[in-house]
Amino acid sequence: TRPLLVDTDPGCDDALAILLALEHADLEVVGLTTVHGNASIDATTHNARSILELLERPDVPVSRGAELPLISPLETAEHIHGVDGIRGDLPEPSPATRPADTHAAQFIVEQARAYEGELTIAAIGPLTNVALALAIEPKLPALLDELIVMGGAAFAPGNVTPLAEANFHSDPEAAHRVVRDGDPIVVGLDVTRRATLPAAWIEGLPRGGPLGRSIYEWATYYTEEILERYDLETAAIHDALVIAQLIDEEVLEVEPHFMEVGIDSELDRGALVCDPHGVTGERPNGRVAVDVDVDRYRELVIEAVEGVL
Ligand code: BDR
Ligand code: CA
Repeated sequence: TRPLLVDTDPGCDDALAILLALEHADLEVVGLTTVHGNASIDATTHNARSILELLERPDVPVSRGAELPLISPLETAEHIHGVDGIRGDLPEPSPATRPADTHAAQFIVEQARAYEGELTIAAIGPLTNVALALAIEPKLPALLDELIVMGGAAFAPGNVTPLAEANFHSDPEAAHRVVRDGDPIVVGLDVTRRATLPAAWIEGLPRGGPLGRSIYEWATYYTEEILERYDLETAAIHDALVIAQLIDEEVLEVEPHFMEVGIDSELDRGALVCDPHGVTGERPNGRVAVDVDVDRYRELVIEAVEGVL
């Protein structure tokens, strides 16, 4: 099994990503680190614990992370994910899921050292914790097996500004640091927007209990207005795509490229800039997703969900 730490801001699509990570036998979730993002750090930490409670995994440690972005003001997305940043019928977390005493950035460094060379980090929220971990331990990339990030819009427009995607726009300086120094696999919006689930399957989900009701709510978190705006039939479950790739590396097609995140002007803040033709003359500093096998992705998510219902 592959040890995995998920840095997250749950979040409806985060919740499905966490479910997939916990349920697949090839992954061993060593902890969740929480970050501001879809809601305040209080709310995302509470949501992470509630998800673990719902999935009967209070044994997974939760380490609370950054309350604010490095420089930008806090930017949350309750208007998309729901009051307190998540939808569904979630239980109050029991004391068994009490957050660890260690700050998420420190926890990331400690786990990377404990599992030297073997740990994978899936970062599916703003990158503040990972940037802080890189500041504490610049050798972090060498200590990891892989760092995979949901963020940016490599070859397409963003969802917060014409150029920027939410996770990168929420903390552009952190994203800049992680993309520059973290040797990441970056999975951007142009690819994750295709990570939807079949409408008929969603409608057939059993909704008799809290788990079924929650999964249904997570899978349908986009309003009619958002579906229309992006010409989608069902919601994009961005974050689960990152986890699917860790289970089966054929899910995504990735290419090595030089990448940078804009931090200089209102126009480019948080924008992922990719150099596929090598015009900068810079060497590739990571890999970026360029295509997705949607059928395989759906198979993995559906199998995981049906396994818990
Ligand atoms: C990303 O932003 C968040 O709202 C989602 O959870 C996802 O991580 C998509 O832009
Ligand atoms: Ca997220």
